[in-house]
Amino acid sequence: MENKIGNIKLDSRLILAPMAGVNTAAFRLLCRENGAGLVSTPMIHVRQVTSLESNIIERTAFLKDEKPISVQLVGADTDYAKQATLLLDEYADIFDINFGCPDKDVLGNKEGGFFSKHPEQMKKMISPVISNTNKPVTAKIRIGWDEKTVNVLESVKILQELGVDAIAIHGRTVKQGYSGKANWDLIKQAKEIVDIPIIGNGDVFKPGNAKAMIDQTKCDFAMIGRGSMGNPMLFKRCNHLLETGENLPETSKEERIENAKKFLDYYEKYENNRSFTESRQQVMWFMKEFDGASEYRKKLMNAKTFPELKDIIL
Ligand SMILES: Cc1cc2nc3c(=O)[nH]c(=O)nc-3n(C[C@H](O)[C@H](O)[C@H](O)COP(=O)(O)O)c2cc1C
Repeated sequence: MENKIGNIKLDSRLILAPMAGVNTAAFRLLCRENGAGLVSTPMIHVRQVTSLESNIIERTAFLKDEKPISVQLVGADTDYAKQATLLLDEYADIFDINFGCPDKDVLGNKEGGFFSKHPEQMKKMISPVISNTNKPVTAKIRIGWDEKTVNVLESVKILQELGVDAIAIHGRTVKQGYSGKANWDLIKQAKEIVDIPIIGNGDVFKPGNAKAMIDQTKCDFAMIGRGSMGNPMLFKRCNHLLETGENLPETSKEERIENAKKFLDYYEKYENNRSFTESRQQVMWFMKEFDGASEYRKKLMNAKTFPELKDIIL
């Protein structure tokens, strides 16, 4: 099978999930280098794109070496969606529309996960994007609003009809947030009823999970979110298992520290919106699952400057 979304060929079946507050340019680049076939921006509000003060395009710091990149839009306003598409078109390889965000404010604005209650309204956001770009357009949904309204099978049909090139399905309802287990069986059922690629999402923390998700659901791609935080090396280990059937050894302390250093280097070099606390948080995420990791985290907690961060992990 060719790993394609629209006309974009991916060199792996693994995709970095869009994550607000996590997917900095530095992190996205590290994920690509470690083998993610596609990286995603955090969700970008369509209104932000047109607002001059928000500077969102500059802050996203699109990099040549991270391509292909999927630009995720959230919102509910057709006109803003059109303008955002036109303004971001030169940066995006793929546009993705967020129909799953459970954030209170987002839901209050009838955006993101709100659409899981009203899948018939998804057209409002899909059509202006498709009509104003030649790039592939994808949608990211949850399996429904709550346990009583699990409508993923209806939603994927609507989205296919609207002309999207792929659908990412997080196997939880909006009301679930991150609790419980992702329902992979519904991802499998969705895959059976549409002809476009399905991107499975939810609970891939280890290489075995990625393989199991692909085997069990027959999804075309597996999307990884939380498992990659402080651990972009997970992409490499998942790819290895998918390609060879064998597990690489657990990620070593040395590899974690090497990647944390790279993260800081990239952050300093590329991030247009540098924040000390953000970079410290990200570096702390790398310091886990090895002997002495908590000592590193304690020291990092007390660091106050970029050079201090570097000294601690040298
Ligand atoms: C910190 C954080 C930020 C997130 N931000 C977004 C976002 O901007 N857009 C989106 O569609 N999903 C967002 N998500 C959801 C993830 O993309 C993904 O669907 C979810 O984490 C389930 O995948 P996982 O089990 O691999 O983490 C976010 C998740 C986390 C943990």
